[in-house]
Amino acid sequence: MSRVQLSVVIPTYNEVDNIAALVQRLRQVLTDHHWEVIFVDDDSPDGTLAAIQALAADDARIRYIHRQGRRGLNSACKEGILAASGDCIAVMDADLQHDERVLPSMLAQAQQHDLVVASRYIGSGGVSDWSRFRLLISRAATWLSRVFVRHQLSDPMSGFFLMRRDFALRGVDQIDSDGFKILLELVAKAPSSTRVAEVPYVFRSRLAGESKLDSRVALQLLAFLLKHRFGQRFPFELCLYALVGGLGVSVHLGVLGGLHKIVGLDFRLAQALAILLAMTSNFYLNNWLTFANSQRRHASTLRALLSYGLVCSMGAGLSYLVSVFLYAHATPWWLASFSGILAGFFWNYQAARLWVWCRA
Ligand code: GDD
Ligand code: MN
Repeated sequence: MSRVQLSVVIPTYNEVDNIAALVQRLRQVLTDHHWEVIFVDDDSPDGTLAAIQALAADDARIRYIHRQGRRGLNSACKEGILAASGDCIAVMDADLQHDERVLPSMLAQAQQHDLVVASRYIGSGGVSDWSRFRLLISRAATWLSRVFVRHQLSDPMSGFFLMRRDFALRGVDQIDSDGFKILLELVAKAPSSTRVAEVPYVFRSRLAGESKLDSRVALQLLAFLLKHRFGQRFPFELCLYALVGGLGVSVHLGVLGGLHKIVGLDFRLAQALAILLAMTSNFYLNNWLTFANSQRRHASTLRALLSYGLVCSMGAGLSYLVSVFLYAHATPWWLASFSGILAGFFWNYQAARLWVWCRA
């Protein structure tokens, strides 16, 4: 057996109906090369792994990593790259959106380049059936990433690219395990001498299954860009927490106004209900958005909600004590109250991230 020229790393989550077709196409297009494919599956409940194993049983080129108790596109790609044995390493989607027929020309380009990106936005490249909205989002993300990160890529959001082994292994520890913009992270940290080529391709529609990237992806992109621009210490999580807090205030006032003014409920009861509702909606929003990477699910959600309630009550107590203390020491009423709110807010944030979402 000679050296593996190309390792294709494919992260999978619920892609059972795409595996066989994808492998079939890789076999066709890579007949002249020594290749392997490394699927990285996060214990997909739909049987993706069994489909991979069935193929791997009689073809040694088909390898896989089975991860349990973990999720995440970036960390999956990272582990696939680290396990690859090829001189070149490609990353692509499992759903046939990435046209495998450009792999040979990407491989040829890698003779002279460290990184070869399959791009939707040069030459004959394109997107097949995207709605105006998705096109707009993609364009905006591309433009934003150019403002924040210096690079010359036409398609920095591409999830389809190929690297020479040395470049990949040097860059792999730059990839944040929590993110999803692996290519952008690689180029953001790459030395300026990196030789980059682009190959056009048309992004196809998914063969089967559904996309796992949702609207939070846009937020994660924003976090990455801000941190890249202003340093890792940029308090993005805190900003999200504050945003959710602000929304909570509107929920509170809305519910209170509705129940007290419109329904005619007693103020004390309406206020109590408003507090409960605002707190609950804040919990769910923070769980979905701010702490998405440590999301509490299933049975642990209720327990987390209760501890969030406890944390918030302690925050309210602290807020009360701080404002009363300041007011007693000749602070104007509004400043005393505002300081109390700030103290409560920071308490809530720190205590919630430590005890409710268990972040380090
Ligand atoms: N192991 C693992 N774990 N794989 C995952 C996970 C995960 O948590 N989430 C998604 N995947 C796999 C999917 O199964 C698929 O093979 C690939 O990662 C990309 O996910 P999709 O759900 O197909 O993403 P998309 O098509 O919406 O987004 C694609 O296009 C974007 C550009 O518009 C991806 O290629 C993105 O990387 C790309 O930025
Ligand atoms: Mn896809």
